[in-house]
Amino acid sequence: MTQKITVIGAGTMGSGIAQVAVEAGFQVSLVDTDRSFVDRGLANIRKFLGKKVEKGKLAQTALDDMLSRLTGATDTAAAVAGAAMVVEAVFEKFELKKEIFQKLDALCPPEVILASNTSTLSISSIAAVTKTPGRVIGTHYFSPVPAMRLVEVIRGKETTDATAERTVELCRKFGKTPIVVKDIPGFIVNRFLCLIYNEAADMIARGDSTAQDIDQAMKLGCNWPMGITEIIDLAGVDVCANAIEAMYQMTGEERYKPSPLFAKMLADKKLGRKTGEGFYKYDSK
Ligand SMILES: NC(=O)c1ccc[n+]([C@@H]2O[C@H](COP(=O)([O-])OP(=O)(O)OC[C@H]3O[C@@H](n4cnc5c(N)ncnc54)[C@H](O)[C@@H]3O)[C@@H](O)[C@H]2O)c1
Repeated sequence: MTQKITVIGAGTMGSGIAQVAVEAGFQVSLVDTDRSFVDRGLANIRKFLGKKVEKGKLAQTALDDMLSRLTGATDTAAAVAGAAMVVEAVFEKFELKKEIFQKLDALCPPEVILASNTSTLSISSIAAVTKTPGRVIGTHYFSPVPAMRLVEVIRGKETTDATAERTVELCRKFGKTPIVVKDIPGFIVNRFLCLIYNEAADMIARGDSTAQDIDQAMKLGCNWPMGITEIIDLAGVDVCANAIEAMYQMTGEERYKPSPLFAKMLADKKLGRKTGEGFYKYDSK
């Protein structure tokens, strides 16, 4: 029988997770609060998969099959019925995630895995709002989900071995490479990236180097596919600054204290590609 995955939140990450699950042969239900948000998420998936058909990377019949397994919903109770796993990908706010996990805990039988795509919140604290913390786990995907191979699988204090093993297996079926991580601030990737982003901003603020030279150095000297500040501009200066601030708050470590350059860039609305300027200027056409 085709297994079902329900994704809560049809934004950037939720629609990406829904896409990889439907491509992997699962039945997928994508949930958001408003029908227009659901439709936007579904449209993004159709657009992405449609391009694969245009490029000859996917057969039209395979696309039709995928789309027949993909549905959108605003009613969480109906959408989670029969799911093997529910993946939450709503805004990064603890109170909102708390409300959703309590609801999912009440709706889903105990064998259903409840996963959060949180980037900064503790999985143990999310699990603690439920009566069944053993089936709560973190699955931290990276953007854009269809292209990025890693999933950090985060075990909370009470996550059972069975939950962790089934989650790893599901992530592999989605075509991803899971790495099991402890529930520590920043998991693995953001622990490093936040330090690197911050150091780049500090170097620029002090006049030690320029964005261009830092990026060239990392691309030519370390074989990074993109430069540090190019990545920040792509992800969003605000998104990266918030992640660094969150790391600082969670660890209390001075090394994560956000560079003052970020506050200045936020005040100047230099948020990266999305506002046409960050560390670089972008042609809006
Ligand atoms: N964007 C990234 O690069 C990235 C990477 C890794 C992890 N994350 C994490 O993934 C999560 C989602 O991030 P995103 O960038 O996709 O956000 P987003 O803003 O693109 O999407 C969030 C969606 O959740 C929906 N939502 C809000 N409340 C809801 C509710 N009660 N029920 C159903 N849907 C609801 C919103 O309408 C919105 O469509 C966050 O926890 C974020 O920290 C983001």
